[in-house]
Amino acid sequence: MQKERAQWSSHISFIIATVGSAVGLGNIWRFPYIMGKNGGAVFLLTYLLLIAFICVIPLCCELAIGKKYKKDTVSAFYEINPKFKWFGWLCIITVLMIPCFYFVVGGWILNYIWIFLAHHIPPDFAQYFSSYSSEIIMPCVLTLLFLFMTAIFPYRGVNSGIEKANNIMMPLFALMLVLLAVFALTLPGAKNGLEFMFKPDFSQFNKSMILIALGQALFTLSIGMGAIITYGSYMKENTNIFKSAYTLIFFDTLIAVTAGVVIFPVVFSFGVEPTAGATLVFISLPQIFTKLPYPELFGVIFFVLLFFAAITSGISIMETAIASFIQNFHISRKKATVIVSIIIALICIPSTLSFGLLSGVKLFDKTIFDLLDFTTSNLLLPFNTLLICLISGWFINSFTREITENLILKNVFSILLKFIVPFILLLVLIYGLK
Ligand code: PFF
Repeated sequence: MQKERAQWSSHISFIIATVGSAVGLGNIWRFPYIMGKNGGAVFLLTYLLLIAFICVIPLCCELAIGKKYKKDTVSAFYEINPKFKWFGWLCIITVLMIPCFYFVVGGWILNYIWIFLAHHIPPDFAQYFSSYSSEIIMPCVLTLLFLFMTAIFPYRGVNSGIEKANNIMMPLFALMLVLLAVFALTLPGAKNGLEFMFKPDFSQFNKSMILIALGQALFTLSIGMGAIITYGSYMKENTNIFKSAYTLIFFDTLIAVTAGVVIFPVVFSFGVEPTAGATLVFISLPQIFTKLPYPELFGVIFFVLLFFAAITSGISIMETAIASFIQNFHISRKKATVIVSIIIALICIPSTLSFGLLSGVKLFDKTIFDLLDFTTSNLLLPFNTLLICLISGWFINSFTREITENLILKNVFSILLKFIVPFILLLVLIYGLK
């Protein structure tokens, strides 16, 4: 007999868990450095417009598919039309590829927590980071440890694992972020940092910025992989899709902007270039911590915060695959968690090693890590999102009724869903392929 589908115990728990999925490395690690590289305030403005008017459409679609079918991603697409089952599996393949860079970074975070906790702070983080990430044993062990710590929660189930983890970690995360923001605002470079973030210099605007902002917006909202379909499938019947989507967007953006409010004042106060890129958080920032009165304290708070952000997203990544494995292979949650963990471990190891032992293994001039990051973020994500919009708009009968009852909104939504958003996503895809 089919067991009754799990349900979030309250609307707040649903919102916290979904925000937990959305808020992750994308907000704290990726957003500030992408914004730094792409002109600050103009990028932020572009990003806000895109997320509020474009990305909200696929976000609503995923929530509505979850709510309507109450199934895992693969079964939901099968139910829409059996010929879309392959697409459900493509979403699962995509979500399984994300840990190849996400959990590797998770392992680095664990290492940084350890070095700050144990007072093993290296004098030069640039040198330290490059020698650590090219080691063989420790990065692999820590990637696997991060995987293990993440897997515990879906293993325990939706309510006693996933929901509890989010309900505890997300408020702690928010508290730490606020503490760091208050501190950052007292620094001498705060004014310059805030100006960089909020005072647009329109000469910096260019069209590639739009596409980068859109890719980032999809990634940060966990769209295009079935994660939101899965979390949406546990929501209560009377949940309002539009309201939930905008609540999620509000918190996700608030947290990304607050992360910027922490990082840019610090960066400007210590004369580091905001354009430092991916290493901003692992080299520039920890180097700055060593110059503060209590480096260990700042180091631990910042990297534990990053850890909470990463693990709550990691949980949703795993749950998306686990839910589909349970349903489609008729296995228990525990068995599905073990199998998904083994698959992730097998694909994470070569990616972890691509900074050292396997650094010479390249395809299209990219290491395994870069290739997986590029393929998922720049190609699969926009491609899957495009298909989610097309399937929802063209293949589900009166789909907009799931979203809203308001006639004008329904029509606007329908035009955006069927024509405008797919067209924009197609542009992103073509640009990603260049
Ligand atoms: N939204 C997460 C972030 O911004 O870090 C990343 C993510 C989570 C991607 C969950 C995919 C997913 F299924």
